[in-house]
Amino acid sequence: MSKRVLVTAALPYANGPLHLGHIAGAYLPSDLYCRYKRLAGDEVLFICGSDEHGVPITIAADKEGVSPQEIVDRYHGINKKAFEDFGISFDYYGRTSSATHREISQKFFRTLHEKGVFIKKTEQQYYDVKAGMFLADRYMKGTCPKCGYEEAYGDQCEKCGTALSPTELINPKSMLSGEQPEMRETEHWYIPLGNYENWLKEWIGSKTDWKPNVLGQCNSWLDAGLGDRAVTRDLKWGVPVPLEGAEGKVLYVWFDAPIGYISASVEWAAQIGDPEGWKLFWQDDETELVHFIGKDNIVFHCIIFPVMLKTHGKYVVPKNVPANEYLNLEGGKLSTSRGWAVWLHEYLEAFEPDLLRYALAATMPETKDADFQWKDFQNRVNNDLADVFGNFVFRTFSFIGRFFDGKMPPLLNPSEQDLAMLEEIKQSGARIAKAYESFKFKEAALHTINLARAGNKYFTETEPWHTRKSNIEACGNTLHVSAQIVAALSVYFEPILPAACKKLKSALNITFNGMLLWEEVKPDMISVGQEITPMEILFKKIEDDAIQSQVALLEAKAAAKAGTTVKEVSYETEKKGIAFGDFEKLDLRAAEILAAEKVPKSKKLLKIKINLGYEQRTIVSGIAEYFQPEDIIGKRVAVVANLIPRKIMGIESKGMILMAHDATDGLRFVETKAGPGSCIN
Ligand code: MF3
Ligand code: ZN
Repeated sequence: MSKRVLVTAALPYANGPLHLGHIAGAYLPSDLYCRYKRLAGDEVLFICGSDEHGVPITIAADKEGVSPQEIVDRYHGINKKAFEDFGISFDYYGRTSSATHREISQKFFRTLHEKGVFIKKTEQQYYDVKAGMFLADRYMKGTCPKCGYEEAYGDQCEKCGTALSPTELINPKSMLSGEQPEMRETEHWYIPLGNYENWLKEWIGSKTDWKPNVLGQCNSWLDAGLGDRAVTRDLKWGVPVPLEGAEGKVLYVWFDAPIGYISASVEWAAQIGDPEGWKLFWQDDETELVHFIGKDNIVFHCIIFPVMLKTHGKYVVPKNVPANEYLNLEGGKLSTSRGWAVWLHEYLEAFEPDLLRYALAATMPETKDADFQWKDFQNRVNNDLADVFGNFVFRTFSFIGRFFDGKMPPLLNPSEQDLAMLEEIKQSGARIAKAYESFKFKEAALHTINLARAGNKYFTETEPWHTRKSNIEACGNTLHVSAQIVAALSVYFEPILPAACKKLKSALNITFNGMLLWEEVKPDMISVGQEITPMEILFKKIEDDAIQSQVALLEAKAAAKAGTTVKEVSYETEKKGIAFGDFEKLDLRAAEILAAEKVPKSKKLLKIKINLGYEQRTIVSGIAEYFQPEDIIGKRVAVVANLIPRKIMGIESKGMILMAHDATDGLRFVETKAGPGSCIN
C-alpha cells in the first residue's frame, strides 16, 4: 500500500556556503530516501529551506558590516543553486525570512501561548553595556564548565558538544566588546519541558526502529532531566514575539526554524495551486514525518520540536529522525574557520554530481564518524563506477550494437547461470529496497553496485566474445540477460546516480508511463527486438593529477587561513571625554613631506621637512624604524601644527606628524588629499 511521507532536511543557516559535511550529514541521505520513496510509489513531500534567523547570521553580518538581510539573501541564493546543481530533489526550498513564515510561526506561538504551554519568567541575563544589548547564545564566549575549552559559545561547547546556557560559562566574555558583561533582568517565555517528560519517555521508548546513536542522545537528555527552555530572545533580528508588552523580543531561532518546515509546505501548496494541500502532510495521522539532520540537531528534532507539535495538538510527530554522525576530511575535522572544507559549489566546478553522490553514499557517516578522502573518492569512481558499472553497461551495449544490429536478442534455451542471473534482479531489488526503508544508505549503495558487479562477472564468465563464433544463441542469451540487468540498474541506481540513470533509460528506449516503479522492475523489461541506442562511456576515470590538484587546493586554502588568522585584536581603551573647546585648541593641518633624513646617532628619529603651504618647517619624528626616508617623500599627511616647538637631539621640531597605530600592520600615516596648509577639523 502506498504511503504518504513528509521528509524534511535540516534548514541550513544562510550564513555561509555548504560543504561536504553538510551534504553527507542531512542532504544526500534525505534525497536518496525521497528518490527511493517516489520510486516505491509513495506520495512524497520533500521540504527544506534557509534558516535565516539567529545569532550566527547577525554575527556574520556584523563581521562584514552589512545588514543581516544582505547576508541571508546572498547565501540563500548560493545554497539553493548548489542544491539544485547537485540534484537534491526538494519539492520546495523556502526561507524563514518570508512573510508566510513570520505569519505561521507567530500563529504557532500564539496557539501555544493561548493553550497555556509557556511560562513567563524574569531572569538575570548577561548584558553588554557598551553594545547596549543582551547577549544571547553565540554573542557570548567563555570557558566550558564540562571540558575546560576556552572558546565555548553561550549555547554550546563545540569541543565536547555540551549544550550550555550563557550563565554556565566560566569567564564569560561578550563577543561584541570582548568585555565581561553585567547581569540585568529580563523577561522571557519558556517551555517547561519537564511537564512532557512522561510523554517523551513513552513516545521515544516505543521507537524500536530509531538509530542507536539517536536513541542514545535522547535517553541521556531524558535521564538528565528536562528543564525550562526559553523560546524568546532579546534581539533585533528574528520573528517578533506576537504579544503585547513583548516589544524588542523575537522568537528564539530554534523555535521558529523548525516551523520553517511547515511554512515552506504552506508555500509549496500555494504554488501548486492547492492552498490546503499541506494539511494532508502535516495534520493527517496517516502521514509519516521523517526529519533528516546532523547529530548536533538531535535534541531539537527529537525533544523540543515534537513537544511543540504535540502541545499544539493538530500536528503529526516524527516517525523517525535518522540523524547522521560527522564527516571528517582527509583525517581532519571539517572547519570553516580553519579553511578545512570542500565546498559543494567548488566540487561542482571540477566533477559531476553523480560521482560524489556515489562516493558519499558508500562512505556515509551513518553509525559513526567517517572520513572523506580524495584518493578514496577517486578509487570509488574508477573502480566501482568506471570499471564495474560503466564497463558492464558499455560492453553490453557495444556487443548488442556490433553483433545483434543494436536490437535486443532473444532468450533461447537459457542456461542455469542465465536464469540465476535474471532471478538476481528481483532479489537485489528487494535487498536494496529494504536497506532504503531502514535508512541504511551505505548498504543500499553496496547492494546496488553488487548487482552491477555480479552482472559484469557473469558477462566475463559467459565469454560472449567466444560464443559469438561458437554458439550465437548463448551469446544472445548473455546479452539479453545483461541488458535486462542494465535496465534494472537504471532504476535501482536512480536514487544515487540520477543523471547517469536518465542517460541509461533513454539509451535503452524503455518507454515508461510516467515513472517506472521499483516493483515494476522485471527480468523482461526490455522486449526482444527492441532497439538499443549506442551510448558514450558513462563514467570517465579520474586521473591522478585531478585528485592531486584537489588535495593541493585544500591545503592551500587551509594555509591561507592559517596565515591570516587574525590575532585577537585588542583595542586600546578610549580616553576620558573632552569638551569641544579642548578639541578646538588643536590646529591640525595637511602637510606635504618634502625631504627626510636619518638623525645621526639615533635609531628611531627622522628629520623631516614639510610644506605647510604658508611656510616650510622641520619636524623630528620617531618613525625611523618603520620607514625609509626616501619612501615617504611626497606623502601628504596630517600634522599638529601648533605644538609648542621643542629641541630633540639638538634639532628644533615644530609640530607633530600624526600616526595611526594599526594592531596588525604597525605604524601608518594619516594621509590626505587636501592641499598643504588645509585645516583639518
Ligand atoms: N540551521 C540549523 C543548523 O544548521 C538547523 C535548523 S533545522 C530546523 O544547525 F529544524 F530548525 F530547521
Ligand atoms: Zn566543552
